[in-house]
Amino acid sequence: MLQGRTILLIVGGGIAAYKSAELIRLIRKSGGAVRVILTKAGREFVTPLTLAGLSGEKVFEDLFSLTDETEMGHIELSRSADLVVVAPATADLMAKAANGLANDLASTTLLATDKRVLMAPAMNVRMWEHPATQRNLATLTADGVTFVGPNAGEMACGEFGPGRMAEPVEILAAVGSIFGTKGIPMPAPAPIKEIAGPARAKGNLLANKHVLITAGPTHEPIDPVRYIANRSSGKQGYALAEAARDQGARVTLISGPVSLAPPAGVMLVRIETAREMNDAVEAALPADIAIFAAAVADWRVKMEAGQKLKKDGNAIPPLELSENPDILARIARHPVLRPKLVVGFAAETENVIAHATAKRARKGCDLIVANDVSPQSGVMGGDRNRVHILGESGVETLPEMDKGAVADALVQRFAEAFSKSKP
Ligand code: C5P
Repeated sequence: MLQGRTILLIVGGGIAAYKSAELIRLIRKSGGAVRVILTKAGREFVTPLTLAGLSGEKVFEDLFSLTDETEMGHIELSRSADLVVVAPATADLMAKAANGLANDLASTTLLATDKRVLMAPAMNVRMWEHPATQRNLATLTADGVTFVGPNAGEMACGEFGPGRMAEPVEILAAVGSIFGTKGIPMPAPAPIKEIAGPARAKGNLLANKHVLITAGPTHEPIDPVRYIANRSSGKQGYALAEAARDQGARVTLISGPVSLAPPAGVMLVRIETAREMNDAVEAALPADIAIFAAAVADWRVKMEAGQKLKKDGNAIPPLELSENPDILARIARHPVLRPKLVVGFAAETENVIAHATAKRARKGCDLIVANDVSPQSGVMGGDRNRVHILGESGVETLPEMDKGAVADALVQRFAEAFSKSKP
């Protein structure tokens, strides 16, 4: 599916560099060619010999190397590929690229290239959350750079949170999404022109705003192979992320396990459980607007088994449950970092408006978007939705539309409510 495509892979200095070796293998298995630039710091984690062996090509390292320059000048190198992928994209590489520095081969290439750039950040969670890195992320996103990851989870340094590099298969999927290739399990991506930079914007209702969105289900483990889940597809939440992005927002999308393509130009944090979602949401604050579209499991299994539960002759295991954190209610009542506009969703199967009205008060959010998810509505997993928006001034019901159109309409309402809300 990547036949005839050449990827220029910049490998930065981080533990995750070892995953780049696997990425090279996957790209080549998909029919693509890989040319590698290894930074000086990257060389500390993975050898040029390994990368050359896997890519089948010489690895470029030095801006001032006479041999490199005679074989292929750095400007030509930056343009010879169809796509530039930076994995791992360290805080340093992001900072250089955001500020247009060009003091080594990797940064010079990023400044000189006329091709799209995909970055897979990897760094310590505090470095990722630092306002400087978040500023660089916003600048690079505005410049048209696409991001995949980072994911939340345990880090090599022992801390927990967003900062782990996306897995090689996820990076490959993002590459496929950019080229619009088939054969990768994901829906058809938007045309490259539409996602390539400011040209894609439909408006600027949310320019310079940070919008945090939760989406999808959560998985609550029973043992290492079984879990409790629900039927949420994540489609409405992902559509909201794209709609907010298209209105100029910087979007952080915190997603449970779904089979949707990572939306381009959106910071995607993948989690599995409600508690991980809660941690990722807290780590992503501050935000101007928070939209809780995820179908978070209300309960988790109290004692997750360390090993697979066995049937053989044993009694049926009792599943004792305990309550998950109510993320929406916690953030809506956050003493310091409550976003100016907090939006909840209410998926109901009966008495939709009455239940949603009660939920709005109980959760302390500004708006509730309510919909009927009874099996006959076809909303769960489907492509269409009919929603009611409940706020202080009453209820507005939108006509049934596809989830993309619903998202556009909702984002307009949210922008309006945001501009009217008190500081
Ligand atoms: O209570 P219920 O699950 O119906 O509430 C739905 C709203 O609350 C949604 O916006 C959902 O994302 C959010 N929620 C949450 N954390 C939970 C449960 C629900 O953020 N544990």
